[in-house]
Amino acid sequence: MSKVTSSGEAKKSIPRRIRKTLSSLATKLGLKKTWDEKFYAEVSAYGEDSSNPWIRRSSEIGGWLFEGEHEALWELATRDVSGNILEIGSWMGKSACILAGACVDHHPDTVVLCIDTFTMSGTEQQQKHHEKLVGHAQGTFYDFITSAKRLGYYGHVIPIGQYSQCALKIVKGPLRLAFIDGAHDYANVESEVTLVLPLIAPGGSIALHDVYSGTYPELLAFVNERMLTDPALEYVGKANSIAIFRKR
Ligand SMILES: C[S@@+](CC[C@H](N)C(=O)[O-])C[C@H]1O[C@@H](n2cnc3c(N)ncnc32)[C@H](O)[C@@H]1O
Repeated sequence: MSKVTSSGEAKKSIPRRIRKTLSSLATKLGLKKTWDEKFYAEVSAYGEDSSNPWIRRSSEIGGWLFEGEHEALWELATRDVSGNILEIGSWMGKSACILAGACVDHHPDTVVLCIDTFTMSGTEQQQKHHEKLVGHAQGTFYDFITSAKRLGYYGHVIPIGQYSQCALKIVKGPLRLAFIDGAHDYANVESEVTLVLPLIAPGGSIALHDVYSGTYPELLAFVNERMLTDPALEYVGKANSIAIFRKR
């Protein structure tokens, strides 16, 4: 039996329904992966063969750190500057695992303050992407806590489930490192950097993810227009998509 669709094309309704059912069953069973899911799985696994145990552990957590970025974060987090670490945008805890591992091994009296709504926020583009990957989930907080306990850094992370602008009202310095990986639009990054900079200790670092990934032009514009020209900041360089600055 066939019917004529609005486009005038005759289609067999029963086989199509079956095809759709099989297709969604395959997706549910993990037999069919979209390009986004494949890319996410591949990027998440980076660092699995690292000699650094914290980088290896981070590869067990879903998230986005590109080649070379794990080592760069480790190096910044282990520097001999006093203060805690601040992270904006934690997702399920991949970067937090490396930053917290640096606290465990090198600065045991310090912690990583992890600000994230844990409800998959961000620009419209980011939210659509998150939805595609883990749309079935209510949020990322449960994964964040579960990984922190399982991988041994729960005592060195303090998750704050709130938008950055609101959460930053209670954050105190000094910070030895701020890693910014939240909403990648101009207005959000501008307000985050403005609020965070006074909290960073002299000689401490501020690093922004995804600046050079080619996906977020507003983020790149903010870094070029406002950070490269700021006399309080020294541009240290890039590690893949990350822009790194040192506070003078
Ligand atoms: C790209 S993911 C972070 C990836 C993470 N650093 C990792 O290692 O996998 C961005 C995160 O920022 C959070 N986020 C976006 N906008 C935010 C905002 N305004 N305040 C707090 N968190 C935000 C999202 O909920 C999301 O978990």
